[in-house]
Amino acid sequence: MADYQVIVIGAGPAGYVAAIRCAQLGMKTACIDKWINSAGKPSLGGTCLNVGCIPSKALLDSSHHYYDMNHHANEHGIQCDGLRIDVAAMQARKNNIVSTLTQGIGSLFKKNKVTHLAGTARFINAKQIEVTTQEGSQQTVTADNIIIATGSVPVSLSIAPVDNEYILDSTGALALTEIPKKIGVIGAGAIGLELGSVWSRLGSEVTVLEGLPDFLAFADRKIATLALKELKKQNLDIRLGVNVVATKVIDQQVQITYSNAQGEQEITVDKLIVAVGRKPFSEGLNLAAIGIEMNERGFIKVGDDRQTNIPGVYAIGDVIGGPMLAHKGSEEGIMVAERLAGQKTEMHYDIMPWVIYTFPEIAWVGKTEEQLKAEGITYKVGQFPFMASGRAKAQGNTSGMIRVIADAETDRVLGVHIFGISASELLAEAVLAMEFQASSEDLARTIHAHPTLAEAMHEAALAVENRAIHA
Ligand code: FAD
Ligand code: NAI
Repeated sequence: MADYQVIVIGAGPAGYVAAIRCAQLGMKTACIDKWINSAGKPSLGGTCLNVGCIPSKALLDSSHHYYDMNHHANEHGIQCDGLRIDVAAMQARKNNIVSTLTQGIGSLFKKNKVTHLAGTARFINAKQIEVTTQEGSQQTVTADNIIIATGSVPVSLSIAPVDNEYILDSTGALALTEIPKKIGVIGAGAIGLELGSVWSRLGSEVTVLEGLPDFLAFADRKIATLALKELKKQNLDIRLGVNVVATKVIDQQVQITYSNAQGEQEITVDKLIVAVGRKPFSEGLNLAAIGIEMNERGFIKVGDDRQTNIPGVYAIGDVIGGPMLAHKGSEEGIMVAERLAGQKTEMHYDIMPWVIYTFPEIAWVGKTEEQLKAEGITYKVGQFPFMASGRAKAQGNTSGMIRVIADAETDRVLGVHIFGISASELLAEAVLAMEFQASSEDLARTIHAHPTLAEAMHEAALAVENRAIHA
């Protein structure tokens, strides 16, 4: 008999959620994770909790308070003379949040009777795993089913090798102890915009160099245009369509050479953040030896049930590709656990919420107009500006809008795109509407409390049939 019914490798949001759900469903479960934090201790939660979603949002919130106090407190009659930021205290707050949450997963494991094995996993065969602790001791454990959830790591650029002193990856950019005067960022994606915002709000001059000619090329064009304009107003110098050709560390600064339509350009910064995407991580798992198939980009290949080509071995989260988002991995973890328990759980990948935590936030679900045009689907759009929302006005930020896109024939909601305050929270209504296959009329006939930002969703839905009241 195997030691466990299920072994999960990796305790990021995909793996730890899978392990908890397996245990809830009565399976004897272990979760192996190799993460060691800066204090040298094993830490659960993977990229998301240790160096991703959570610490970045902690710094975004701190830096937003500081920026808001500096720029907008006086509008409320609040005088903030002598305001200053204590970076060490801000980082300590972030570290405290991370350690509380990562330890919280340990408690959830105990509560649900998941065995936590701290160490690095390596396949011996499809049912047997060798675990090596950081001290070097080894044990072998066996399981009927194995779920690989080993996540991803940053993509590196040979022209900008990360040393985490001058050229930083996202982990280095989250750990800065001083505010650099000038920061360069390669990549205007989620990380570039979020971490660029953090340091820019605290006073750094931030230049973001994006390879593509369009800003957030995969987002709704109107929303992306509004967001770009607003972020530029906040002093994020976003340069599109650039080709970074070289970087050089000279005299404790980084010289960046890039070309754009105007020819070759050079800027010098104190720190350079490289944020050009993430790649799957499965090093050291010995996958080739047991014959697990991967695609040409290193993602583990899986079927609809997230099973690899080896029966009983599953893979979930960033390591299989698709949107590299925490909630995507967690839902896959739940799906695999429930399927192992004989349930028929499925996921709707086309109803995936996306959020970029700039201020205000950019959030969307479903299709863009461009995608619908390419697919030959006819649609109607209703949009409503936050400028016309009483609550947005009272809160002091009226940037942006909500756009609801519905099928021209059936009225079914096909996409919702938001740029505005609390977009991440407002999006949940749209995600639920799409899960329930709601029409724009369903949203329009739903009573929304007044005064709320959610009324803008109501009005955008009303606008699909040109019957918005307040615009
Ligand atoms: P990971 O979280 O990468 O976890 C994998 C785990 O496997 C790690 O703990 C690793 O140590 C362990 N592991 C790997 N190999 C082995 C082995 N051989 N043995 C044992 N353990 C092993 N996503 C969002 O949805 N929202 C956000 O706001 C957001 N913000 C982000 C901000 C930043 C700065 C970054 C970098 C990422 C952000 N992400 C965000 C992305 C999110 O962090 C990832 O999509 C998510 O963590 C992927 O989860 P995962 O469980 O697949 O992998
Ligand atoms: P990303 O894929 O979001 O953005 C990378 C950007 O870099 C793209 O715009 C790309 O065009 C650009 N780029 C690539 N190579 C380049 C080059 N050589 N020169 C200039 N520009 C170049 O990746 P990012 O920001 O690194 O984030 C990694 C992952 O983490 C993403 O998949 C994202 O989903 C996830 N994440 C999610 C967050 C969220 O949900 N709020 C926050 C942060 C990360």
